[in-house]
Amino acid sequence: MNKLRLAVFSSHSGSNFQSIIDAIKEGQLFAEIVCLITNNSDAYCIERAKQNNIPYYHISNKTHPDPILYEKAILDVLNINSTDLIILAGYMKIIPSSIIRAYKNRILNIHPALLPKFGGKGMYGMNVHQAVIKSGEKVSGATVHLVDEIYDNGRVLNQMQVEVSSSDNAETLAQKVLDVEHKLYPLTIQQIIEGKIQLDN
Ligand code: GRF
Repeated sequence: MNKLRLAVFSSHSGSNFQSIIDAIKEGQLFAEIVCLITNNSDAYCIERAKQNNIPYYHISNKTHPDPILYEKAILDVLNINSTDLIILAGYMKIIPSSIIRAYKNRILNIHPALLPKFGGKGMYGMNVHQAVIKSGEKVSGATVHLVDEIYDNGRVLNQMQVEVSSSDNAETLAQKVLDVEHKLYPLTIQQIIEGKIQLDN
């Protein structure tokens, strides 16, 4: 069986990117990361790519000010690397519609809350965890979902919960959620490979 070919998109630290690298190395995930695409030339995820001999590409509106050429540059990288699945892991840019159409039901994202709660525009990073704490929710978690043209709207594929305790603040909750993200993302990709989660329903 051929390994599923993953293109990871990340803008900052890339700890989720690392969790996928590690799961592959440990034999828990039967996939190959064919490239990293980042919009941020200073991002630590580039170090992770270098350390693991993963080709990386810096594509942004600085490298490609023309939106048509920007989209084409991303599509070319995906095609050259025969990408099966796009894995958004802390990628802070909108995915152009042409790419969403070309990879329909083949783009995954991880969100640091239990969608459909605490999703949508403005719900990213610490904003999410602050909103969860403020609302008094007793449970939060992480969601892996398909990506369509609306923020955090695509079908939910998998979730993992964490307890929100009375002593939690946004920072402690963020760390708890990130810890489960690192388990949930590789697990979900492996479940797709095994046919336990279908992308084309
Ligand atoms: C994660 O919390 C993820 O849910 C969100 O962005 C963060 C990325 O973290 N989409 P990292 O770059 O993978 O460490």
